[in-house]
Amino acid sequence: MGAFRIDLSQLAQTAIHRKPYAFIDKRGTAIAIKPLHEDRCDQLVQMYLAFQARDQFSGLPPIRAEERVRWVDRMIRDGVNLIAFCFDSGVIGHGALFPMDAQTCELLIALDEHRRNVGIGTQLTRALLQLAHELDFERIWLNVDRSNRIAQHVYAKNGFRCVARDGHDEIEMVADLTHFSRLADVAVDEVMTTDVISIPETATCREALALIVRERIGALPVLDTGRRVVGILSETDLLDAGSLDLLAKDVATKQVVSVRRDCRSSKIVRLFQSRKMRCIPVLDDEGRPVGIVGRRDILARYARDLLAAETPGR
Ligand SMILES: CC(C)(COP(=O)(O)OP(=O)(O)OC[C@H]1O[C@@H](n2cnc3c(N)ncnc32)[C@H](O)[C@@H]1OP(=O)(O)O)[C@@H](O)C(=O)NCCC(=O)NCCS
Repeated sequence: MGAFRIDLSQLAQTAIHRKPYAFIDKRGTAIAIKPLHEDRCDQLVQMYLAFQARDQFSGLPPIRAEERVRWVDRMIRDGVNLIAFCFDSGVIGHGALFPMDAQTCELLIALDEHRRNVGIGTQLTRALLQLAHELDFERIWLNVDRSNRIAQHVYAKNGFRCVARDGHDEIEMVADLTHFSRLADVAVDEVMTTDVISIPETATCREALALIVRERIGALPVLDTGRRVVGILSETDLLDAGSLDLLAKDVATKQVVSVRRDCRSSKIVRLFQSRKMRCIPVLDDEGRPVGIVGRRDILARYARDLLAAETPGR
C-alpha cells in the first residue's frame, strides 16, 4: 500500500461519491455501493473479523484478531474505500484502491461469506474500475491466489488480464484503464436514434407486437395525446401480457427511466448494467421523446472511435 495520496477534491467529484449506486443482487436483495464513511468503519472491521481462516486470500487478512483490526485500519487510512451495504445486515462487502504511484493502483475486494456468488463482487469491481478511471489512474494491478477461481473469473470478466504467473500460488492481473478513455464518453444526443418509433396509448398489444416485429426493435415508448411518454412496452411485457387484445399502455412499464439529451453515455451504460434495460428514451423538458438510445447505439459509437484510433496515420 503506497505512500502516494489521492486528491480529496477530485475524489469528491467522482460519480460514486456524488451518488451511491444501487442494484438488486441475484437473490433479490437491494444492495448499495457507496464510499466508506466513518460511521461504518466498525461494521467493516466486524465483517473482516467474521472471516474464517479459510477466507485467506493472497496471504490476507491476518489470522490473529488484533492484527486483523490493524490491517483493516491501515486499509481505511491508505485506501479509497467503497462498501457494499444492505439494509438488514449493514456492511457486507468491501472494495478498495491503493495508490502505488500516479498511474497505478492496487485493488482489493472481499465479501461477507454469505453474500458471495450473487453478483455483488462483479458490481463492486465495476464501481472500482469506474472510480480508478475518474481518479486518472491508467491501470489497476492485483494479486490473486491461483486457486481463487471465482475472483479470477470476476476480474477477467471485467477486463483484467494475467500479466505474470510466478509459478507458485499467485497470479498477477492488470486492468488497462486507458481503454476507458478510448471509449468515448459523449452526450447522449450524439449517439441516440432520433427517429423514435412509438405507439399511442390507444394501441393494442397486437398492434404493438406487429410494430416490434416489423421494425426489429426491443421496446416501444407509449405516448399520450400530448406526445408525452406514459410507459415503455418491451418484448418481455408482451410475453407476459396474456392477451394481445389488452391495451399496450396497461401492459407497459409505467415507471419509465428516461434521460435528458445532455446525459453522458457513461451514465447510460451504468443504467443498462444496473437496471437490465435494453433502451432508454431521451425526453425534452415537457416529457416528449426526442430520441431513444439502445446498447447498440453506444457500441456503434465505441466501434467507430476504436476503428478510427486503429487506422494508421490518424
Ligand atoms: C472474489 C469475490 C470478491 C467475488 O465476488 P462475488 O460477489 O462472489 O462474485 P460474483 O457473484 O459477482 O461473480 C461470481 C462469478 O464467478 C463464477 N463462479 C462461481 N464459482 C466459480 C468457479 N468455481 N470457477 C469459476 N467461476 C466461478 C460465477 O458464475 C460468477 O460469474 P458470472 O456472473 O459470469 O456467472 C468474493 O467471492 C469474495 O469475497 N471472496 C473472498 C475474498 C477474495 O477472495 N477476494 C479476492 C481477493 S484477490
